[in-house]
Amino acid sequence: MQVRSAVIPAAGLGTRFLPATKAVPKELFPIGDQPALQIVIDEALGAGIDHIVVVSSRDKPAIADYFERDDKLIAALDDAGKTDVADRLRAIGKDWRATVVYQDEPRGLGHAVGCAREAVGDEPFAVMLPDELMGSSALLAQMNGVCSSTGGSVVAVVNVPREEVSSYGVIDPAGELTADGVIPVKDLVEKPDPDDAPSNFILTGRYVLTPDAWTEIAALRPGRAGELQLTDALRAQAARSPFHAVVSDVSRHDTGNPLGFLIATIELGLVNPDLRGPLAEFLAELKH
Ligand code: G1P
Repeated sequence: MQVRSAVIPAAGLGTRFLPATKAVPKELFPIGDQPALQIVIDEALGAGIDHIVVVSSRDKPAIADYFERDDKLIAALDDAGKTDVADRLRAIGKDWRATVVYQDEPRGLGHAVGCAREAVGDEPFAVMLPDELMGSSALLAQMNGVCSSTGGSVVAVVNVPREEVSSYGVIDPAGELTADGVIPVKDLVEKPDPDDAPSNFILTGRYVLTPDAWTEIAALRPGRAGELQLTDALRAQAARSPFHAVVSDVSRHDTGNPLGFLIATIELGLVNPDLRGPLAEFLAELKH
């Protein structure tokens, strides 16, 4: 079954980017001429998803504004002969639907995702953390296929050095990695001490979840850091249902801190046909 909805949690205050985030949500920071959020949306659309549910905060009205159609601006661009730009604005929400829901208090990732329950309904759904930008839709599409064939939830993972696992959710594998890069999972743990971590495979911000996740999310109790942790809801699923991880082999850009964001801007600029040439030239000159 094709996953139709993607939940994008975007209610955070972006404290690591203050004062830049005082007035502009970090999800709308530009990567070239695109807001970072649109890059995540394009990844979802490329994997066949057509309903984007953004979990925002009332303190970030610009997120909902991004999805509002601006007929006056579109008409002005058309009149000025800038139909290519007008077309890009028309494309926002054209063959897909955006729903913005609100998380009124910061109670953790599990709680944020739970705010999307009514908008998604009783069907499998993706969760996409917008602090990570992927180079393509291939990973999410593969995860969707694994969810359909196994009937269970699927998480994306990457292998990292042991000392880094304490910043992430970590899987406890139930078996070997297959040739397709899929690992059965028996348990998960949020931000373990490296000494206690069950593996070096960390959760990397992409999930395809079966709808029973809603019940587990609703039943969450405060976990690590006193927050309602999505990882704890997944653990309950892994304990009783098929649960798999897909090892990501797409490029991944961590935009969760200012340096990562700057690097992502450059790396994604280097694959953008309009920017690639002059940007590469500039970087080559910098080396001298
Ligand atoms: C969240 C999840 C964690 C995951 C990480 C990926 O943590 O709780 O399991 O590994 O995202 O970026 P956060 O970065 O919000 O602390």
